[in-house]
Amino acid sequence: MKQTVLAGIRATSKLHIGNYLGAVKGMLELEKSGEYETFFMVADIHAITTPFDPEGLRKNKYEVVIDYLACGLDPEKSVIFLQSMVGEHAEFAFYLSSLVTIARMQHLPTFKEKVKQYPESTSLALLNYPTLMASDILLYNASKVPVGIDQEPHLEIAREIARKLNSTYSLAFNEATRFATEGQYVPSLTGEGKMSKSVEGSAIMLTDDFETIKNKLFAVPTDSGKGEGVPISGGVKTLLELTTLFLGVEKRKEYELMYLSDGIKYKQMKEELAEEVYKVLIPIQEKRRYFENNPQIVVEVINYGKNKAQKVASENLAKVKFAMGL
Ligand code: TYM
Repeated sequence: MKQTVLAGIRATSKLHIGNYLGAVKGMLELEKSGEYETFFMVADIHAITTPFDPEGLRKNKYEVVIDYLACGLDPEKSVIFLQSMVGEHAEFAFYLSSLVTIARMQHLPTFKEKVKQYPESTSLALLNYPTLMASDILLYNASKVPVGIDQEPHLEIAREIARKLNSTYSLAFNEATRFATEGQYVPSLTGEGKMSKSVEGSAIMLTDDFETIKNKLFAVPTDSGKGEGVPISGGVKTLLELTTLFLGVEKRKEYELMYLSDGIKYKQMKEELAEEVYKVLIPIQEKRRYFENNPQIVVEVINYGKNKAQKVASENLAKVKFAMGL
């Protein structure tokens, strides 16, 4: 029996290069390896844990599926599906919530960040976000989860829940580990924190054209271009990180040396980076147009994925319900 991989991306918008490098590249690698049963979902239920509008959600869940397909995920190799179409996710999450304490959830850094971001909207659903994510992972008994490093606290919760579930009800769920990529943490274009969908001017979207990418990179805050030590934070650090990811570590070292000697010419650096980023995005955008023009294929993928996911999810959930006496 092959081991299982599960990953998801919230249906809050189209994807950016942080999602691509931190998550989708890992999904592609695990899918290509042929060593795993791969389940890739769109986390549309997770999207209702922070303020959302139904019209946006209705649209965005398809956008994420289109992005998955455009990036090259193959519906013949992986099960691609919408979380909300498989009711077992929400049902299992409720059962799992009996195994975690409110205090444990309140102390999570990811929860605290969201509370800061949406002080008026700290719902129970938000507090339960990691339980739902554990449900996603455990329903398929996944052993590997390709996600960015920001998701590590959630994976820790999923492992804790798996241990508790196993010890309380004599079950044998895997403790899933993160499958990391080189781009596990893509910094924000603002120079502060990680690249994020919800921060203005932070992200390069997979759908951005060359001019947009260039303009966004030109807006990254920089300095005089030289100094005593290479910057370890801020916009220059972001540019250096993106250089490593898109042009390679040797090129980054060249820039670092320039910084310490004659100085970096940021205009040139940003232009070169824009070209390389765009080169990576061209084939993705071409594929995206194909799926945008053929929405019936996207619907077929989702319906096919739903059936396959539900088969596995319902079997696993039945075992847990039996063990719990339900
Ligand atoms: P979300 O939508 O916030 O992020 C989706 C994926 O993109 C990664 N990511 C990044 N990676 C590197 N650099 C960045 N700047 C960056 N920004 C985002 C995230 O780490 C994530 O892998 N909770 C998940 C969604 C989810 C899920 C799951 C994931 C729901 N259920 C089950 C795995 C398994 C999330 O926040 O996605």
